Amino acid sequence: MSQVAAKADTPFWERGNLAPVHEEVTAFDLPVEGAIPPELNGLYARNGANPREGHSGHWFMGDGMLHGVSLKDGRAEWYRNRWVRTGRFNGEPRKPGMSDIRSGTANTNVIAHAGKIMALVENALPVMMNRELDTVGLNDYGGKLDTSFTAHPKICPVTGEMHFFGYGFAPPFQTYHAVDASGTLMRSIPIPTKAPTMMHDFAMTSEHVIFMDLPVVFDMPAAQRGTMPFAWNDSYGARLGILKRGAGIESLRWVEVEPCYVFHVANAFEEADGTIVIDVAWYNELWRGGPSATTFDKAVLKRWRIPPGATKAQEQQLDDRAIEFPRVNENMAGSHHSIVYSVDTGTDLASQRYTSLRKYDLKSGNSTVHDFNTGLPSEFVHITPEGSSGEDDGWLMGFVYDRTRNASDLVILDAQRIESKPIARIGLPARVPQGFHGNWMPGV
Ligand SMILES: [Fe+2]
Repeated sequence: MSQVAAKADTPFWERGNLAPVHEEVTAFDLPVEGAIPPELNGLYARNGANPREGHSGHWFMGDGMLHGVSLKDGRAEWYRNRWVRTGRFNGEPRKPGMSDIRSGTANTNVIAHAGKIMALVENALPVMMNRELDTVGLNDYGGKLDTSFTAHPKICPVTGEMHFFGYGFAPPFQTYHAVDASGTLMRSIPIPTKAPTMMHDFAMTSEHVIFMDLPVVFDMPAAQRGTMPFAWNDSYGARLGILKRGAGIESLRWVEVEPCYVFHVANAFEEADGTIVIDVAWYNELWRGGPSATTFDKAVLKRWRIPPGATKAQEQQLDDRAIEFPRVNENMAGSHHSIVYSVDTGTDLASQRYTSLRKYDLKSGNSTVHDFNTGLPSEFVHITPEGSSGEDDGWLMGFVYDRTRNASDLVILDAQRIESKPIARIGLPARVPQGFHGNWMPGV
């Protein structure tokens, strides 16, 4: 449980609370400060890169490890952390070449859809897990899915469908897919781009899905260095591909944006006249010359507006503070949201000097913060109470690393008053590294 003693050549993702943990821990009946709302029955699980041994070539390339906390009737039943037992983790041989979708790290996100819990990484198939975080196996949707699966699928709260895409290193480079509410793959549509670009996330409205073809492009020198095989490319251009949900490739149109990079979309929606609005954590540029081992660039909240027939998006920066991990109430996915929750990352995400969450109220233009003081927050998710329709009702939940005791808590905040003292702080027996994305899985 001790922190890794950082040597001068230790990359930032192996320092402080980005460093991996080396033990799998199981603990029951966790101590709680405050009170867990009794209606919170389910599993909070979160994924992250946690190299099993040695060094990973990049922050994003370590073996996936899930951290989960089960809540029931106001109690914190258990905490578990488990590596995802991928083929790669088990030392099985990879197919030669850049992509083997059956052999990934499964390190980026963990979701539940159609009764399956799945650990995701963008260059491989989903890995199914059980609620105790044991690995079940790959999910290729009955043999129908033959591309990778993004770590950021979108589940439509109206239809229950899950929309996603996969990208690879051979034409058409991107393919869009949709799965129905029962988990059957309904549709796969190739989305050709000029080159393999790093497409980490995408957007969904009630009518469309939107792909981000941005100038972080496959880069052989980076691949040969054993890091993420992508670099900024000044000549590539930047555009959004808008595809009508349920329609074919003939409905695809491309719209220009200013060159930039976006890992994460907060949400997207359509106005009455059909204008598409997309809120994103926006990087002015990323990885010029390839990914850096010493710093990580900063993102700000930005809005793209695309009126019907437009060939170029209108752009509006909504704030100048650095944020990442933007999330909204999941029931608002594809609808007109007015609240975005995010982590205040400071000027360099790698520095781990940040301590607060920020809640943007886009109607008033104001934002409020929760400052954890000595705590280092990871991504927080919004949880809506059963039967509630208010966007801001409910709770925020996420891990916070406590520097003073070198361990972590699962913290629950009141989403309407994030600045207030936490409703509950669940003490975990170990450090939870910063990691990437997680979700609350009610009833799981
Ligand atoms: Fe992500």
